[in-house]
Amino acid sequence: MTDHPFHLRDKRILVTGASSGIGRAIAIECARAGATVIASARDVQRLADTMAAMGEGEHISMCADLADAGQMAALVARAGAIDGVVHAAGIQGLTPMRMMRQSFLDQVIGTNFMAPAMLTQKLLAAKSLRNGASIVFLSSIAAHTGTVGVGAYSSSKGAIEGLMRVLALETAPRAMRVNALAPGLIDTPLVNGDRAFLEEKGKAYPLGLGQPEDVAYAAIYLLCDASRKVSGISLHLDGGIPWT
Ligand SMILES: NC(=O)c1ccc[n+]([C@@H]2O[C@H](COP(=O)([O-])OP(=O)(O)OC[C@H]3O[C@@H](n4cnc5c(N)ncnc54)[C@H](OP(=O)(O)O)[C@@H]3O)[C@@H](O)[C@H]2O)c1
Repeated sequence: MTDHPFHLRDKRILVTGASSGIGRAIAIECARAGATVIASARDVQRLADTMAAMGEGEHISMCADLADAGQMAALVARAGAIDGVVHAAGIQGLTPMRMMRQSFLDQVIGTNFMAPAMLTQKLLAAKSLRNGASIVFLSSIAAHTGTVGVGAYSSSKGAIEGLMRVLALETAPRAMRVNALAPGLIDTPLVNGDRAFLEEKGKAYPLGLGQPEDVAYAAIYLLCDASRKVSGISLHLDGGIPWT
């Protein structure tokens, strides 16, 4: 077999949001690419389903609510030394600005920005991330475009991209890399409650609606050694949709 770097053999990868949608697909595809996966989310049963789909290996699952500092610290301790982390846990929600409650803003910013930021801080402080490790944040094209009603969500994704670029510089001395994935609409439970609406929206994408695996394959690229000189970027997985 050709020896190329497009694999995750000998790597331990932490994936948050692994009980559903994009995080689940990333956990499964990382395992298929040879990684040992530490899969985390809150829901015990759906996390167990992900573990079953990952098949054999020394994979670990750990339930953790990332809104809880104690559970986050326990996750860091359980994960041990890792070669990569994918922050796929996230929430959405529609609220026009004039009706925005601070509690809603706190929840969206808390889950989509504060949690991945503080989990990264804890992993760095604990020296859990090995030299050469790869950090991948889940952003969205919403960080770059405007859509009515998604102010909190867009803000959280813009914030994570800002942090990503700073972290890329701060971690480069240890050959670490920090990047973001910015998907357009992906067919997951986050957005597929109204099937007809989703399919109508999907028509705007020249390459069609994205599937969780499309994001997982890009995550594998950013996690593996093939991308060892790629840092500080937001990789747009937008199905070729025109932005203007
Ligand atoms: N789907 C899209 O169209 C799309 C597009 C662009 C970007 N994204 C981003 O991609 C990421 C994954 O989205 P998705 O579509 O896969 O959503 P999803 O299917 O709803 O999955 C969200 C995941 O986040 C976990 N989660 C939520 N709150 C959590 C918390 N407080 N602590 C721990 N885990 C938590 C959920 O697990 P539990 O409920 O088990 O905790 C679940 O595993 C998000 O950051 C989202 O913004 C999605």
